[in-house]
Amino acid sequence: MVFKFPEDNWQVLLNPERESWQNLEEFFSVVKPKKDEVWADIGCGPGYFTLPLAKRVNKVYAIDSSPFMLSKCLERAEEEGIDNIEAVECGEERIPIGDKEVDISLLANLFHELLKPEEFMEEVRRITRDRVIIIDWHPVPSPAGPPIEERIPKDEVLRFMERRNFKPLEDIPVFPYHYFLIFEP
Ligand SMILES: C[S@@+](CC[C@H](N)C(=O)[O-])C[C@H]1O[C@@H](n2cnc3c(N)ncnc32)[C@H](O)[C@@H]1O
Repeated sequence: MVFKFPEDNWQVLLNPERESWQNLEEFFSVVKPKKDEVWADIGCGPGYFTLPLAKRVNKVYAIDSSPFMLSKCLERAEEEGIDNIEAVECGEERIPIGDKEVDISLLANLFHELLKPEEFMEEVRRITRDRVIIIDWHPVPSPAGPPIEERIPKDEVLRFMERRNFKPLEDIPVFPYHYFLIFEP
C-alpha cells in the first residue's frame, strides 16, 4: 500500500516548526541554485520549496498530481508577487513537459508516494538535463511524516535508481529525518 498525503492537511506542510528539521537555508547551501537555472519541484504541494526556489532561479515548474495543491502553491506565489512559477498537473506515469526542459528536478517527500515509480522516474529522466534530487523520510520516529512502515529506506532508493542507470553523485546527511540524494539522470 502507498500512503498519499491528505490534501486537507496542506497547512501542515507549511508549519514553521518544519524549519527546525528541514531547513531551507541548509537545503540551499547544498544545492546552490543559480539564477539562470530551470527547476522542477515535483510533488510540490503548497510550495514549501517552490516559492523560495523561485526567488533564486530563472523558472520553477511546480508539478503535482493534485490540482488543489497546485492552486495553493500558485495562490501563495501570487501573494508574494512571484511570477516565475508554472503549475503543471501530472499523472502517475506522465509529466506533460518537453524533453530535457529542466536543469534540476527535485522530488521532496514524494518518492514514497509514487504508485508507478519505474514509469514515473523514466519521465523524470526524460524532462531533466542535469540533476535529480531525492529527499525522503528515513524509517525512524520523527515529529511529522508518513507512517514509518510506508517510508522507503535510503538503500532501497539507491538500489532502485542504480538499477535504472541513474548515477548516484552525492548522499548528503544534512537533515535529521531525511536522506538527501543527488543523481545524474
Ligand atoms: C508529502 S507532500 C510533499 C509536498 C512538498 N514536496 C513538500 O516537501 O512540502 C506530497 C505531494 O506529492 C503529491 N503527489 C503524490 N503523488 C504524486 C505523483 N505521482 N506525481 C506528482 N505529485 C504527486 C501530492 O499531491 C502532495 O502534494
